[in-house]
Amino acid sequence: MCGIIGYCGQKAAVPVVLEALKCLEYRGYDSAGVASLCDGQLLIRKDAGKVEEVIQKHKLADLPGHVAIGHTRWATHGGVTQFNAHPHADCSGRLAVVHNGIIENSQELRQELTRRGHRFASETDTEVIPHLLEDELKNGHSLEQAALNTAAKLEGSYAFVVVSLDDPGKIIGTRRGNPLIVGLNGRDRYVSSDALAFSQYTNEVMGLEDNEVVVLTEGGAEFLDAQGNKLVKQARKLDQSWAESDKGAYQHFMLKEIMEQAQVLGRIANQDKQQFTEIALDILRARQVIITACGTSRYAALVGRYLFSRVGKKFCDVVMASEFGYFADSVDKNTVVIAVSQSGETADVVEGVKAARAVGAQVISIVNRPNSILTDLSHQVIYLNCGSEIAVAATKSFLSQLAIFYLLSFAMVNSFDQAAARLAELSGEVSKTLDWNKSELIKLSEKLKDKNDAYYIARGINFAIASEAALKLKEISYVHAEGMPAGELKHGTLALIEPGTPVVVICPDDYTFAETLSNAIETKSRGAYIIGVSDRESEVYDSWIKIPKVDELLYPMVAVVPLQLLAYYVAINRGCDPDRPRNLAKSVTVK
Ligand code: M6R
Repeated sequence: MCGIIGYCGQKAAVPVVLEALKCLEYRGYDSAGVASLCDGQLLIRKDAGKVEEVIQKHKLADLPGHVAIGHTRWATHGGVTQFNAHPHADCSGRLAVVHNGIIENSQELRQELTRRGHRFASETDTEVIPHLLEDELKNGHSLEQAALNTAAKLEGSYAFVVVSLDDPGKIIGTRRGNPLIVGLNGRDRYVSSDALAFSQYTNEVMGLEDNEVVVLTEGGAEFLDAQGNKLVKQARKLDQSWAESDKGAYQHFMLKEIMEQAQVLGRIANQDKQQFTEIALDILRARQVIITACGTSRYAALVGRYLFSRVGKKFCDVVMASEFGYFADSVDKNTVVIAVSQSGETADVVEGVKAARAVGAQVISIVNRPNSILTDLSHQVIYLNCGSEIAVAATKSFLSQLAIFYLLSFAMVNSFDQAAARLAELSGEVSKTLDWNKSELIKLSEKLKDKNDAYYIARGINFAIASEAALKLKEISYVHAEGMPAGELKHGTLALIEPGTPVVVICPDDYTFAETLSNAIETKSRGAYIIGVSDRESEVYDSWIKIPKVDELLYPMVAVVPLQLLAYYVAINRGCDPDRPRNLAKSVTVK
């Protein structure tokens, strides 16, 4: 879960790399660094800290050169220290590497390299790569052949990029299991984990398959397969709406992405009816349907499960992707696996999908990022089409996932068009919900900012919204929060309710209202502070987040939006950075 970038061309390289690192920061932000080749020198500057802090501290913008690489890190192997920050060099300091992924056999390789006299300067798995490359270069191989030979010795997943003083005009990149994409603009060449990193310069891109190598020079891009044979590739255009990564007038990406949701919903109905109908039929015909996902995407899947059952009369199970392998025995060719992932590169989801494919299951993925690892592994892909989501906390992608499940479930009963029309109308209700509640939520966040715990309860289709809202609060404000079915509270968690404990009660005016409110009253009797999320007022609420009256199956989409905003304001009041929560990253590419 790191971001890598390389640039060679006519511009000053380091400023390009630094701008790219700012765009890639969503992939990891505990350390950053660059390496630049200039006048026979390899200049490496790196440190722990956010990109901007490292740039300022080490005056990175002053580094000269027309060939440079850069990295923003989310630590896996080795603590958050300057030594462990990338780029990593070989013993001679003549080559530098940035890497995203995990080298699973790094311990064995490290021992062997140490025996051969290599000296390691960090605790990272990555550092074996420059030392392996060093040996290959000593054996007389070209930089690209050295990269091919080194890659063949690595187990695990990687995308790495290397520059060397021995071949100073080149950047070599290769990947297996982690993304790497090339950008071309005139004589300028870019290579990165994400095209966002260079989308301000070009939308002409070329992809790399697993085990392929790219050799970039000013004006040149040569692709090789794992045997070193030259490949012919066509450039393609990047969808610019995807490439947008500007906060606009908003203070944070998260706020912008929350506020965009009404528009996103307005657009979501533009899905391919034919595709939905075919997928809906596959789901109905399957012996069993399993939805697999992590985090927020899993909560969307739980809403989907409810919709499939309620609308399509099709039961399916939701399996947390990190646990999927333990259920693999019952997956077969009559199983449809639906993988839900905003990024399309979550390692747990990817691994589950590979296992499912291996036994012949049909894989349908619901993803946001185009051309992700998951899309390549799937038989059918439904795109969220909600544009790039930069904040670590998922918001607009969640709403889009809910909308996709809504459309799919109605496609099962030949009512796609009606469902699409209802979603388009719901867009106005989402705007209304944000307008009604903004100032109330700011006040409420003041009250919540010093709380240590919060509980979220709901029933039926909204239970997953309680869990998602709790996840939002904890991941960006570091307040412990739990979401659960309201009826479950009395089976244990009620013991934790004390005077003043916030309990968010999602109780739309539907068939769940009376029972959910009754559970809220049980907590209020123990002193809980009740925050009602409902279209129906009640004296039980100490605070009321008012939502519009909508169809019962659409309540999740209007209920979640103010709760995302509440989490945002609590984080701000607690002095937390909602876009870059501690210890987390947007794409979780490790198991
Ligand atoms: O990219 P994915 O949807 O596969 O990501 C899954 C989770 O890592 C993600 O939803 C995570 O829980 C978010 N940070 C939640 O806001």
